[in-house]
Amino acid sequence: MKPKCVVALALPDDIIERLATRYEVAAWNGSDAMSQQRLSDALAGAEGLLCALSTPVSATIIDQATELKVISTISVGVDHIAMPAATRCGIPVGHTPGVLVDSTADLAVALMLASTRRIAEADQWVRESQWTQGWQSDLLLGTDISQATVGLVGLGPIGEAVARRLRGFGCKLVGWNRTPRVIEDVEPMTLDQVFEQADVVSLHTALTEETRHIASRERLALMRTGATLINTGRGLLVDEHALIDELGSGRLRAGLDVFREEPLPPHHPFLAMRNVVLLPHVGSATLSTRSAMLQRALENLNAGMSDLPLAWCANPEVYHREPYI
Ligand code: GLV
Repeated sequence: MKPKCVVALALPDDIIERLATRYEVAAWNGSDAMSQQRLSDALAGAEGLLCALSTPVSATIIDQATELKVISTISVGVDHIAMPAATRCGIPVGHTPGVLVDSTADLAVALMLASTRRIAEADQWVRESQWTQGWQSDLLLGTDISQATVGLVGLGPIGEAVARRLRGFGCKLVGWNRTPRVIEDVEPMTLDQVFEQADVVSLHTALTEETRHIASRERLALMRTGATLINTGRGLLVDEHALIDELGSGRLRAGLDVFREEPLPPHHPFLAMRNVVLLPHVGSATLSTRSAMLQRALENLNAGMSDLPLAWCANPEVYHREPYI
């Protein structure tokens, strides 16, 4: 009998067929996210789970999945998975670091330019047939990245890749990292100083208990009037209510790829604001990056199903546990 694995997101048929040569596959193919109840039911007797950000994997689900040997997520972030429960149950969690660094850094820079040069707003303005005069000296004026101070919150691989790109723009770079890191041309500062001194603050930390609301109401209030917040990390890095207030008053601008609640609910206040550029969580969404992520996730899944260590494991401590006496 083949071991069972659950695929909790819609994937192309050829991938499911490839998996089905080795496993009994329970694949979700709904257009919405798999519900917690369906996931829990599907995991009965399953040894592997392939999932993504849209499927939270709670401690209850992990505890109930008594045969589960591996969770493999097609993402670098693992904040949708109850990591302490997985580790407690000795289940390695595979993720996909590295391969999405460049795509995500590109998107952060794209959001910086789109926000500071008001690109989405200008595009909408043209489509609304508001362009009735030719060139106008004061039309849709923005600010220059080359003259800006850009503050990077988090200097891991993505923050560093953003810094590398921005060096070409000639702007001043300042940054903060939880464990001090030296990055060429990035002046280290305290977190509050980054928010206070930057014209553009870009968030590149993982979401953890410590980084939740790292862009707090108090820190947003420290930002310069007219400054821009960029978030390609996780929605919960930002106190979204506070950001709504700052954007609503017109004091700040923002470029956001991630939100507290995804998809963004209908009638969300952001939708009516012109000073925020909104993207549907597409930081890693290029053909080659998504294919590399899937490849890593499949390798992790296969390794875990075969009782081998995962090449990209988010909780490597599962392999070093003291024997239980
Ligand atoms: C995307 O947000 C990821 O964590 O891969």
